[in-house]
Order: sequence, then C-alpha cells, then structure tokens
Amino acid sequence: MIKISFADMATPKGEALLVLTGEGKTLSGVAADLDAKTEGALKRAAKAVGFSGKLGTTVDVLAPKGTTLTRIILMGAGKGANLDTDKLEKLGGKVAARLAKNGPKASVVVGDIKGLSVSVEEAAAHIGLGAKLRGYSFTKYKTKTKPDEKELTSLVVRSSVTTKARRLFGPLGKVGDGVLFARELVNEPANILFPAEFADRLKKLTDLGVKVEVLTEKQMARLGMGALLGVGQGSVRDSLMVVMHWNGGKKADQPIAFVGKGVCFDTGGISLKPGGGMEDMKGDMGGAACVSGLMHALAARKAKANVVGVVGLVENMPDANAQRPGDIVTSMSGQTIEVINTDAEGRLVLADALWYTQDRFKPKFMIDLATLTGAIMVALGQEYAGLFSNDDKLSERLTEAGLETDEKVWRMPMTDKFDKMVDSRFADMKNVGSRYGGSITAAQFLQRYVNDTPWAHLDIAGTAMNSPKSDINVSWGSGYGVRLLNRLVEAHYEG
Ligand code: BES
Ligand code: MN
Ligand code: ZN
Repeated sequence: MIKISFADMATPKGEALLVLTGEGKTLSGVAADLDAKTEGALKRAAKAVGFSGKLGTTVDVLAPKGTTLTRIILMGAGKGANLDTDKLEKLGGKVAARLAKNGPKASVVVGDIKGLSVSVEEAAAHIGLGAKLRGYSFTKYKTKTKPDEKELTSLVVRSSVTTKARRLFGPLGKVGDGVLFARELVNEPANILFPAEFADRLKKLTDLGVKVEVLTEKQMARLGMGALLGVGQGSVRDSLMVVMHWNGGKKADQPIAFVGKGVCFDTGGISLKPGGGMEDMKGDMGGAACVSGLMHALAARKAKANVVGVVGLVENMPDANAQRPGDIVTSMSGQTIEVINTDAEGRLVLADALWYTQDRFKPKFMIDLATLTGAIMVALGQEYAGLFSNDDKLSERLTEAGLETDEKVWRMPMTDKFDKMVDSRFADMKNVGSRYGGSITAAQFLQRYVNDTPWAHLDIAGTAMNSPKSDINVSWGSGYGVRLLNRLVEAHYEG
C-alpha cells in the first residue's frame, strides 16, 4: 500500500525524486532548475542514454551533487497528445513502479507535462490515484518474505497547485479504496472468504454510512429463493444474501441497483469441474466483490445518489446433499428451473437476486455483474467485459464510461431465438442452452428474471480475475468494474 499525499514543488531531502517531463530536446521547468543545481548532471545523464522524454522512459542520476536526494529520476510524459485522466492514471502507475524499491518515501513532481487534456491539479490527482492502484499487492499470506524496508509506502505528489490537487484527490482516493477493497475480496482464498466472512466484511461498510442487511437461509427460504438455495445446499457453509443501501440522494428518488454473483468457490457441484485450474474458482465472487467495492467507493465519497447493492453469497460444492442434474427448483419469481448442469450455478443465484431487487426496490435500473461464463473469455478475451442489456441508453452510457476508465464493455446480442434455447422439456426453463453462444444463453436466462426495469448484465469472467499485469494493477484480482460503475453513477445519476 502506498499512502498518497500532496505538497509544493520544494526539493525534498534524503529521498528519491521523480520528475515528469514532456518530450523535447531541452529540459525545462523543475528539471532545468535541478539540472542547474546539480551542475548539469541531468543533461549529461539524459544525453548519455539518449533520453528525450518519450512516454514512460527514464534516466536516473544517483546521489546528485548539490542536493541531499538519493536519486533524481527523469520520467518522460511523452508528447502528450490528449493526456486524459485514464492515461494519467497509467502514468501514475508507472511512477509508482519506478519508485518501488527506492526507499519508503519518495516524491513525484508534476511539472512540465505537455498536452494535458485536463487541468494540472486533475493531472496530479489522477497520477496519485494511478500510483495508489499500482501500489496494491496481495502478500498477507507470505510469512517468509519480510516487507522490504526499501519498499515505497509513501508518495508525495508535488505541483504548483497543491491545495486543489489534494481536494480533487479526496473522492478519487476513495474510489481507489473501493477498488482495493474489491481486489482483496477476489484474492482471498475460499477457506477464509466464505459467505459468512464475506458478509462480516460488508458489515464494516456501516462505518461509511452504508446500511447493511443480511438475509439468512431461513429468510431466503421464506421468500421462496429456491434457485439460489439449491446452489448452496451441498455446502457446509450457509448461503447468505447481503443488501447494502447508500442513501446519498433525495429522499423520494428511486434507487439505482447493482447485483453481484458471489460464488465464494465454484467446484461445479455434482457436474464437477476438471481439476486443472480449479483454484481460480475462489474468484467466482468477482461480481459481488465489484458491487461491494462500488458501495464502498460511493459511500466514502458521499455520492449524491440512492444506491442499492445486492450480493448472493454461496459455495457450490459436491456433497451427499448437493443438488443433482435434473433437479427442478422453484425460483422466487415462481418460475421453475430444470438444473441440467450444476456448474451453471451463477445464473441460479442471480435469478433470485435480480427478482428480489426488482420486486423490493423498483430501481431506476439494475446492473448485475458476474463471472458467469468461460465462453465470454473465448469471445472477448480479458480486455472487454460482455454487456447484455434490454436498454440502449444504459448500454451507451456503460460503453462510454468504459472507454473513459479503460474498463471496457462490448455489447452482445440478445434475441428471441437465443431465449428459446433455454426452454425445458420438464420445467419453465433449463439452466443451460446448447454448445454454442454460451454467454448469450446465460444472459437470456437472466433476462427471464427481469420485467420492464432497464437492465444490464456484465459478464466479467475474463476481466475480474487472473488479470494480466498492467500499469495500475499487478494483483490477481483486478477490481474490475468499480471505476467503471463509479463513473457511470457520477456522470448520470447524481444531483
Ligand atoms: N464460474 C464459472 C465461469 C467461469 C469460468 C468464470 C472460468 C471464470 C473463469 C461458471 O459458473 C461456469 O461454470 N460456467 C459454465 C457454464 C456451463 C456449464 C454452461 C462454463 O462457462 O463452462
Ligand atoms: Mn460454475
Ligand atoms: Zn461459477
């Protein structure tokens, strides 16, 4: 974890200093001042390695004369055509990575960056957020490697607009906390993070002003949630549903709602998954983690919106009491489901969670997130989440928020023909379609639990976990979706 703070351009003492510089032949601003102070050491170093300020390139000067700094690092910010908030966050990530082993404390100077498409204070704040996101790693179970005393734990972002930058970072840093909260939940193994533990961690959101309700199996049974309960019946861990409320909007305002798949571990159940890679199924609660991280972010930054977050928490295990292929369960909606494959369990959990949310809250819209199908990874890789929706406006807004935050979504088709593919011989529907279009038939199944409410389903199996390393994330769980949905709320549903 890196603590981010803000200060002026004064040269610090006894630490590493990274100066961001635009692309060009000469050093300017702070870099030029430091060059003078160090009797031309920066220019000589830049010349020696052919540094010209290209994005992400660096040059180091160790223990420079005329200062008490341990090192000065020049880092290129490029020609900076259209450096927007997303690119600045990535740059902040690069800064944190470059300073990672240079002592517990360091500074970055946001000086002469060219081509900013936002103000300098916004640039400084987003660089801070990028560094914060990059600074997270999941090491709590490593007992042999002591934390390195040279590990960066505190980064000072220096600019000429300290106060404004600090103020802007306020809400951004809280969104960052929400992302890290989601990542931590995804990374935790399933022997630690089972439904009850997950719910306990969500109860702590009350400190931020979130109202947290926990529905027990008994309560869910009374509500008729046979689909969700069927999934959890083979586990010794009780299933739970957690309902989170953040009321930051006007009293009479209908809420917006987010629903998450929280399968704390997915063995496949009696339709057991193959062994290889099964350990990844500890991340099958990525949808629930995202909803939780989002609630954390919205509450912490006191978003002016009424928001409901609902997560269905279960463990899908094979057991003498587990549900069988061919079993028919009755969902809260009254519709019956033939369980052809117990490994298509996420849609069973969501069927009841969606219906409950729509029925109880009559939300303006519902967005569900789920690590729902392997097929979405075949279609979209790890770059895009699959977007399925009954509403063009909501889809457009999600697509736009995705481009702005680089948490991208790609809309997939939904049609009557795909819907028919989940008709069952014995019940109202079955929980799998045919071999093809697996992500689409899964979405069609979910849509049978949505009436006229504008709704979107995000299949995040490819984006939530097992994440490729990036400038702003080196952890297995990405926290995908928190920044995306925070952006959606901020842009369209506040005030
Ligand atoms: N949790 C899995 C989907 C998944 C797979 C997420 C890989 C992340 C990585 C889901 O419950 C599942 O098992 N889906 C099946 C559906 C099939 C049985 C119709 C799948 O995708 O194979
Ligand atoms: Mn499954
Ligand atoms: Zn699953």
